[in-house]
Amino acid sequence: MKLALLGFGNVGRALLNLLERRLGQHPFRVVGIHTSRQGTLICPEGIAAPPTLGPRMATVEEFLDAARADILAELTSLNPESGEPAISHIRAAFARGMHAVSANKGPVAFAYRELADEAARGGLRFLHESATMDGTPVYNLVRHCLPGVRVLGFAGALNSTTKIIIDAMERGLGFEEGIEEARRLGVTEADAGFDIEGWDSACKAAALANVFMDARTTPQQVDRKGISRLTPEKLAELRAKGKTVALISRGRATPQGVKLRVRAEVLDRTDVLASMRGTSNLLEIETDLMGTIGVFALNPGVDQTAYGVYSDLLEIARHSTMNRPEG
Ligand SMILES: NC(=O)c1ccc[n+]([C@@H]2O[C@H](COP(=O)([O-])OP(=O)(O)OC[C@H]3O[C@@H](n4cnc5c(N)ncnc54)[C@H](OP(=O)(O)O)[C@@H]3O)[C@@H](O)[C@H]2O)c1
Repeated sequence: MKLALLGFGNVGRALLNLLERRLGQHPFRVVGIHTSRQGTLICPEGIAAPPTLGPRMATVEEFLDAARADILAELTSLNPESGEPAISHIRAAFARGMHAVSANKGPVAFAYRELADEAARGGLRFLHESATMDGTPVYNLVRHCLPGVRVLGFAGALNSTTKIIIDAMERGLGFEEGIEEARRLGVTEADAGFDIEGWDSACKAAALANVFMDARTTPQQVDRKGISRLTPEKLAELRAKGKTVALISRGRATPQGVKLRVRAEVLDRTDVLASMRGTSNLLEIETDLMGTIGVFALNPGVDQTAYGVYSDLLEIARHSTMNRPEG
């Protein structure tokens, strides 16, 4: 199956490398790469790493028309205000009969229901495993392993930057030094305020609620407060009482609809939600038939994000094979 990569940063590069490492074990061939500044490359025979991109095509539509791929991998940067232009990229792919996978959480956080319906109308798939926990199976877990279950709520420690800042402050460092540490580790968005003020956590909460609970919500509708008022002194005080703080994304089904909240919560140090450090993350899922279950990842990195995209691609390939008419 032919793949078009839109965005070729950390995840795009890791994905191309992963596809090369697994050559012969999958049916994929990258036939096009397009980015906003690096340029464009179309190669129907397949692109090898590291690629040299040529002049940039004028529009994403022109790129998709030239690539003639079966699947679009949407790997561009997140726009936390609207999810665009990634949503339009995916719509442009559907309009050309292409499936779409997204590591970008924007489309899932802002337009999941519309995109899922649009894909279904065209007999296409829209998958997004890497959008929330760096490739750790959360969407696949519910879709494949919990048939017939209703998700009633969730709670997740899903933002790395704030964990690193809190950890640094618990070691006596200042807030700014914590931000610097997160920057050095390469986990902070260009604008650290996006993590600190809870927008990243709100995007993840909206994405989870849209997929698990059909919430049809957006990050702006999440009741959100970040960690900017935390101080080393406050954390030392809590530590003396056996407590700590973590930025938690919560969702809950109520008779009035799905309620979403992001807060710097005071937790017992023994609480499982307080146990994640650095880029490690954890999600608890409360269900009607299976009680509360959880999934965690220890120190995931960009290779795990690329794996999440790869797992989506494999699912599309498996599905396409199953649906192919015999003859
Ligand atoms: N890094 C991770 O481990 C991770 C984990 C989970 C999810 N994600 C998500 O995955 C996506 C990619 O992450 P990343 O780390 O690879 O980001 P990145 O290194 O910043 O790369 C983003 C890429 O998108 C391209 N781009 C941005 N806007 C574009 C547009 N309008 N049209 C075409 N190309 C565009 C950039 O082009 P130029 O190169 O030309 O600037 C760049 O190649 C993001 O949405 C991120 O939130 C990443």
